[in-house]
Amino acid sequence: MRIAVLKEQAVGETRVAASPETVKKFTALGATMAVEEGAGASASIADSAYREAGAEVVPAADAVAGADIVLGVQAPDVMALTGAKPGAWVAAVFDPFSQKELVEAYAKGGFEALAMEFMPRITRAQSMDVLSSQSNLAGYKAVLAAANQYGRAFPMMMTAAGTVSAAKCFVMGVGVAGLQAIATARRLGAQVSATDVRSATKEQILSLGAKPIFVESVAGIEGEGSGGYATEMSEEYQKAQAELVSSHIAKQDIVITTALIPGRAAPRLISDAQIATMKPGSVIFDLAVAQGGNVEGSVPDQVVEKHGVFIMGYSNTPAHLAADASALYARNLFNFLSAFWDKEAGKPVLDEEIGDAVRLTRGGQVVSERLKG
Ligand code: NAI
Repeated sequence: MRIAVLKEQAVGETRVAASPETVKKFTALGATMAVEEGAGASASIADSAYREAGAEVVPAADAVAGADIVLGVQAPDVMALTGAKPGAWVAAVFDPFSQKELVEAYAKGGFEALAMEFMPRITRAQSMDVLSSQSNLAGYKAVLAAANQYGRAFPMMMTAAGTVSAAKCFVMGVGVAGLQAIATARRLGAQVSATDVRSATKEQILSLGAKPIFVESVAGIEGEGSGGYATEMSEEYQKAQAELVSSHIAKQDIVITTALIPGRAAPRLISDAQIATMKPGSVIFDLAVAQGGNVEGSVPDQVVEKHGVFIMGYSNTPAHLAADASALYARNLFNFLSAFWDKEAGKPVLDEEIGDAVRLTRGGQVVSERLKG
């Protein structure tokens, strides 16, 4: 069983799919680990650390040669897999709804694409969930980036020269990233409020010491679809939400938006007209900017100034915390493959529930139900 780890090729991708810790653990399971030279450099992991953990550190083509499994953060081009065993598995993030051509190419190449973002949201898969591990760090980083852009302080400070008032921070979308954003903003001393379409989040907001802002006027809406994800809301709800948000947002200093709906463009939560009501110097961090954006006018990796308000968002927020993001991502991959390790076969054998959920291609075909439907 040969497992290859490639250096990421996407622009701005600083993470790596294995750490010295996971190299050691895979080796203990009997796998041979082959890491491309320099794969960990941008995540502060030296080649020597991989070597000491038991990996071969070699050029890309040598790492992939004869590989049974290739690990990636973002799925590599099919060309990069030349030399891997026929039917080799590739475990990575595929962004399959917008990368249909890549998925087709994997099918054509005879590879088994395992999309880590399709991990089912079930208890036993929690430790394998890359969306959670990366969103958590993204929520934290979004607040720090917004605080850095903000020309005022977050906590209330009473000084001899006078009092500095606490920043008001509003978090829109209270999933994994939103919860961490609330906790981080609270730690920095801001007054925090938050909203979501899933009513179950109200208690979570309260338990973190923040104020829930919820549409109460439109009855009978839970906002929760399968697997704990949000569903698209009715027009009536969206209108009520927009009105509520409009009055609240005008009083905020910092807004962090995190709303996503799987397989669709991110819902638009803040319009230009609403931005115009905010105070000059306020900061909006749009965590969904790479999925189309929650905020009108947000541009990936740029700070846009509109009506005196700074609108910002990174195309790849976890990449701004490369070392921790890599360590957690690498553990997610190890937890996934090791949970299915068949000692006799000396390789992982996936079960139906998780295997069918993450597998995009097999035997030359696209097999994922989510992509067919
Ligand atoms: P996500 O990244 O898909 O979306 C972020 C948040 O935006 C969600 O809370 C969603 O409800 C909210 N949202 C969507 N449209 C909105 C709108 N128009 N206005 C305001 N908010 C909107 O969600 P994420 O972070 O992946 O988590 C969703 C849920 O799944 C959470 O309850 C989380 O705890 C749960 N979960 C369960 C796991 C497991 O059991 N293995 C693993 C990860 C998450």
